[in-house]
Amino acid sequence: AASPHPDIDEVLVTADEIAAKIRELAARVDADYAGREILLVGVLKGAVMVMADLSRALSVPLTMEFMAVSSYGSSTSSSGVVRILKDLDRSIEGRDVLVVEDIIDSGLTLSWLLKNLRSRGPASLEVLALFRKPEAITVDVDVRYVGFDIPSAFVVGYGLDYSEYYRTLPFVGTLTPDAIERGAPD
Ligand code: PRP
Ligand code: MN
Ligand code: MG
Repeated sequence: AASPHPDIDEVLVTADEIAAKIRELAARVDADYAGREILLVGVLKGAVMVMADLSRALSVPLTMEFMAVSSYGSSTSSSGVVRILKDLDRSIEGRDVLVVEDIIDSGLTLSWLLKNLRSRGPASLEVLALFRKPEAITVDVDVRYVGFDIPSAFVVGYGLDYSEYYRTLPFVGTLTPDAIERGAPD
């Protein structure tokens, strides 16, 4: 199939596949949390698309909070050193917290975040990540809901960025070598 965007080499997951997976994950979450209320914690900025679509696909009562963290690192890989750029607005003590991530790559961001959130005394703490790369399995993070396991290539779209660009692409795919070199859309 022809590339849907001049900077995209290969589409790994289509918009339709993402939509179907979100519905499937939402059904599992609804069943698991029946009779309870969820506090969704979205990790800015990558998780905004998953948050928007997942939250609207869920039927259980929920509220939303956001955290922004930065993993000091280069633009395409993370280092494990995490800093809070925006903290939660309210306490999560006694709440059923579901952390929402777009992707788990090395797993370092999430493993730091879970330790941090666990210390705040939530009633329960689980993770939903739409994408996961194989490397993440080597870090000890327990992820309850995973959408897609994808290869270790650098990918963009549906929240995933390259130098802050390409988050709004409705699918997930790899960049052309030319786009990587340019560092921004043409
Ligand atoms: C990306 C992604 C995850 C994290 C995964 O966020 O959205 O949050 O990296 O990497 P890891 O598993 O190797 O730690 P990023 O730090 O690029 O910030 P962003 O969400 O604002 O793009
Ligand atoms: Mn992120
Ligand atoms: Mg990023």
